[in-house]
Amino acid sequence: MELGQVNILRRYLSRFKEIISQEYRREVLSEIICEEIFRLKKTKRNEKIRLLDYGSGYNPILIKKIIQKLKKKYRFKKLKAYCYDFYTEDHLKKLNKEKNIVFEKMSKFKDKNRFDFCLIIDVLHHVGLKNEKKIFQLIKKLKTRSKILIIKDHFQYGVISNLLLLTMDIFSNYGDGTKIPDSYFSLKTFDEFLNKNKLYEIKRISDKKYYKWYWPYVNNSKFQFMSITKNMNK
Ligand SMILES: C[S@@+](CC[C@H](N)C(=O)[O-])C[C@H]1O[C@@H](n2cnc3c(N)ncnc32)[C@H](O)[C@@H]1O
Repeated sequence: MELGQVNILRRYLSRFKEIISQEYRREVLSEIICEEIFRLKKTKRNEKIRLLDYGSGYNPILIKKIIQKLKKKYRFKKLKAYCYDFYTEDHLKKLNKEKNIVFEKMSKFKDKNRFDFCLIIDVLHHVGLKNEKKIFQLIKKLKTRSKILIIKDHFQYGVISNLLLLTMDIFSNYGDGTKIPDSYFSLKTFDEFLNKNKLYEIKRISDKKYYKWYWPYVNNSKFQFMSITKNMNK
């Protein structure tokens, strides 16, 4: 699997969604994530903070915003982010220009680096929530790398919300070549996910709007959540 805007339709769809939905979403997401990192690390601002961004995306502006904010607004001194996705070699040449951020192919996600935070932002539903074994193996791997997992995902409540989220996901991801999901967490299945994967939820943030007013329904905060979790065994 490789990311790629392989034809004109995909390229234009990707550009269109960037313009009408992504800037606001990334602003809200980066604000919340930086606040949480600050809250958990404020006494260690001189130490090196290492972030893992698993599934950083075709256009990985979110992690760039996060690093900028952590430096400028929260005054963290040393930051390094490692970002993994299904990038091609050509794409990696264009992406790897930042001092604090390293982009890598998913196939390189084998080393044993340890991180302070792992970001899994709107990724798990793309991996495929019905494939519990795959999700379990992935979380197991991520837990060995990072003390804290910051998960952002969607909640569905029935058929209508499922279709709505799916439509939004097709619009937001088809252009970039990302696998389209088949289902989303419900309140119940997310609790089961936490238990099965032995994750302790430090905090759940579910009152934020990630899309502007002209995205009726999808901008309703009940369809979006962020969960700050840590390994129960540590
Ligand atoms: C909706 S994008 C999110 C990108 C970025 N995290 C953000 O929030 O802007 C989901 C990303 O997850 C990645 N991903 C990682 N592992 C995946 C898997 N096993 N199946 C499908 N997508 C996966 C996709 O390639 C895609 O770039």
